[in-house]
Order: sequence, then C-alpha cells, then structure tokens
Amino acid sequence: MHVLLATSELNPYSKTGGLADMVAALAKGLAGPAGRGVLRISVVSPLYRGVLGSHSGIEPTPWRPAIRIGDSLVEGRFHRKALRPNLTHWFVEQPGFYDRAGLYAEAQRDYADNAARFLFLSRAALVLARHLPDPPRVVHAHDWQTGLVPLLARHEQLQGGWTQPPRMVFTIHNLAFQGSFPLSSWDLTGLPADWLHIESARHHDRVNFLKAGLTQAQAITTVSPTYAREILTAEHGCGLEGLLLKRYNDLGGILNGVDTEEWNPATDPDLPARFHAGDLSGKAVCKAAVQREMGLPQDTAVPLLANISRLTDQKGSELIASTVRALLKAGEVFQFVQLGSGERALENAFRDLARRFPDRVAARIGFHAALSHRIEAGADFYLMPSRFEPCGLNQLYSLRYGAVPVVRATGGLQDSVVDPRENAALATGIKFTPYTEAALRHAVLKALALWKDPAWLGHLRHNGMTADFSWDRQAAEYVALYESVCRE
Ligand code: ADP
Ligand code: GLC
Repeated sequence: MHVLLATSELNPYSKTGGLADMVAALAKGLAGPAGRGVLRISVVSPLYRGVLGSHSGIEPTPWRPAIRIGDSLVEGRFHRKALRPNLTHWFVEQPGFYDRAGLYAEAQRDYADNAARFLFLSRAALVLARHLPDPPRVVHAHDWQTGLVPLLARHEQLQGGWTQPPRMVFTIHNLAFQGSFPLSSWDLTGLPADWLHIESARHHDRVNFLKAGLTQAQAITTVSPTYAREILTAEHGCGLEGLLLKRYNDLGGILNGVDTEEWNPATDPDLPARFHAGDLSGKAVCKAAVQREMGLPQDTAVPLLANISRLTDQKGSELIASTVRALLKAGEVFQFVQLGSGERALENAFRDLARRFPDRVAARIGFHAALSHRIEAGADFYLMPSRFEPCGLNQLYSLRYGAVPVVRATGGLQDSVVDPRENAALATGIKFTPYTEAALRHAVLKALALWKDPAWLGHLRHNGMTADFSWDRQAAEYVALYESVCRE
C-alpha cells in the first residue's frame, strides 16, 4: 500500500513545533518495521526558504503543476528526495508563497495570504495523489494547513472525473489552531458556493480549514488517547466539540513516539558527552557544559530545571516564570534554564528573571535545535505545566535523556508520564492537576526533595530512560487504521 502524508512542517527541513517531528518520524516508522518494508510512504510539504541550501539530495523534477487559486493558475514545481526505496519526501516550490522569513508569520503577524498558501499546498498534495504512477490508497493530512484536502478531493471526484480518490485520514495536532478565514476566502478554493455549509467548512460565518478535514475525512485521529477524550468537552473542544461528538466513532487517539535515531543520548552528535541508562557519567559532563554555555555557575550539586518551548499560554509559560520567581525568592536552591520564543511579554518575563537571578536563571530567546538537545541532556528535571497538551514531545525526549519530567496531568502528558502515586514501581515523573502556581510550586518542591534522595531519583530516571516510546508500536496502529479505512 502507498500512503501520502501531507504536512506544512517536516523535520529537519521546516519546524516550528512538534508537528514537524511527528510527521517525519511517523513516515520513517511506517516505511520501516511497522510497514515491514511493504508500505510505500510519500510525504509532501512546502519548499520553504533555505531548505535547498542546507540539505543535500533534494532533486528538482520537471513536474510543474499549475494550481488554481481563485481565478488564477499559480505554477509550482516539485522537488524530491528519496530517503529509502520506499520513502520519498516531496517538496512543492512556489517562491511567491514559501520563500519567506517565516513559515506562517513574521514579527508575530500571520501572513495575510495564509489561506491561499495552504490551499496551494493542499491542491499540490492532490496533484501528487492523482498523478503519481503508483497513486496512494490513503492520504493522511495533518492539521488545518491541509484540512481542505479531503473536501477538494471529493469535489474532484464528483466534478473532475477522478473516479477513485484515495481514502482520507486527518490528524489533529492542535485544535486551538483552526485556519479560520473570512467567508470571502472561499472564492480562492474555486468550489461552488453551496459547498460551503456547516457540514463542510463553514463555522460561525468563517471558512474553517480544520473543520473541512474533520467533516470530510473517513477517519480522524489525534495524538494521544487522553486528548481524544478531552476534545469532546467544551473546555478543550475549541467550539468543535459538538462536531467531534458526532464523529465519535471515527475518532481515535494514538500517542506520538520518539525518533530514536535523532533523540538518543548514547549517539547524539550535538552532545559534548554521551550516556545511557547504565552509565550516567556523560550526563554530568553535559550538565556542566550546558551550565557553562548558558552562563550559569558550573555546579553539578545544584539541581538544574529546564523548559524548551513556544512561549505561549498553552505551554504554561507564565506559570513557570511566576513559580520559579516565587521559589527562588523563598530561598530554594536550584538553577533554571529556559529556551524558547513566542509572546513578547513572556520573552521579557524570562529575560527579567535571568537579570534578577543571574546565578540561578538563564534564558535564551530564539529557536536552537542543537541547544535543545544539550539542555535535555544536561537537565535534571523538565517542567511542562501545559494548560492543554495534545501529545507533547519534550516530556518524551526528557524521559530518554534522564531529565525527570514535572508535568500537568493533561493530554499526552497524562498518557506518557507515570507518577509514583499511580505506580511506584513504574514511576517516571511528577504529575499535578490544577492549573495553578500553587500546584506547580508543590510539584517543583517534590522534585527538589527527590533530588536529595539519589536512590529514588535514580529509580525514576532509569524507568524513564528505558521506557519504550519508539515509533514501531504507534506506527503499527496507523497501519491498522489505514487498512481499516481501505476496507470500508
Ligand atoms: P508543540 O508542537 O505544541 O510546540 P511539542 O512538545 O510537541 O510542542 O514539540 C515542540 C518541539 O519543538 C520539540 O521538538 C521542541 O524541542 C521544539 N522546540 C520548541 N521551541 C524550541 C526552541 N526555542 N528551540 C529549539 N527547539 C524548540
Ligand atoms: C502540536 C501539539 C503537541 C504535539 C505536536 C505533535 O503542536 O501542541 O502537543 O506533540 O503537535 O503532534
């Protein structure tokens, strides 16, 4: 079976968050053991600025599709890279849309033509699906940027003579981002006006790309079982809980895995020393190195806490800043490292904290992939007090790198971290539930107590480092899903 994954981000070429990691790793997992080498996987994403310059092996093809956007035909060009005989990455070039400084936004402002940019991507995916010599049986679209794919395919089936379009699977990575545009943007799609209704893409007098995916795909997944349940509620459903409840039978949650080639402390080329569950001496070297790199005193006796994240309300960044401040003011002894970028006020809050406690807090505002590996390797604890978290990848990376996660019990955090109160023998981290500074403070104090109990800390660390979050198991669940939508 051939499966085409359509995505706006793909690690290592383009990334603002976990979507990039998830799709790249899922593709590898599907092409490898889970697909037993018999599945053929293609992935399509935009050719953003700088991709050709920093990655070898991407070849231009003569294939230049003319794609309808409103009344115009916009020409693109496909490039491809064959990673394995059964795994190909496709890139669609369209300089007017993708040769820009950001993926979605610049200077915190979304690009005004994002509807056209991601309609273009969705149509390009369908050009591949329809015209590849070995057409995919399934297209697996991800998040709002490719939400229109199933609807556009249905239109081509009914009006454009596409007799057997592929089956459609749609994955929600974050329901908070829906791709909501004014009604006038419907004209860009070239679909008839009466195709825009509340059972397709219309939502509160807007065109909603995510809703198009949710209403039209044969199967819907999200990235953890707990989030799959949470989004059926008003608290987490972002206004789409009614629709999701209707599609309950077609909705499932499959926890993300870790790309164990990229995130492996025993082989990671970004680290100054390597380590594994049986020998943590390299982790102490990594800790001292990251303290030095971040300008903190090199003291391995002080516990090092960390967070790497988009700085935004979802991630509980404000809770982290206020809790770290309160605990340091109260005289608690620890260091804290923040890597991230996002809302200006939050960036400034971490800069202020670093100025106020220069020996205790370091903040690096920006996006640095290699540094994120070094921080995971050096940290003793990883704070992730998300307000909601569809899956979350950093707690999984932290488990593997021996940084004990301190998480709020929501979404994928609930599904991937085991608190001693749930199961002492299998415990891997510390969980708390209320989204309050008091609850996070209490959880951090537990972490600081754990620091003083090396045997118990070693137990949690060892459990986390040896837990299996490889993609083999999860990719097998996607294979079963693809097979089931093809049987329907
Ligand atoms: P989300 O996709 O909601 O942002 P995830 O935990 O799924 O959250 O994935 C975030 C990914 O982005 C992780 O790989 C994380 O390390 C990475 N990341 C986030 N911010 C930064 C940053 N400033 N520098 C480097 N990597 C970052
Ligand atoms: C989204 C979610 C995050 C998830 C990632 C990959 O960005 O916010 O929780 O891990 O997608 O699925």
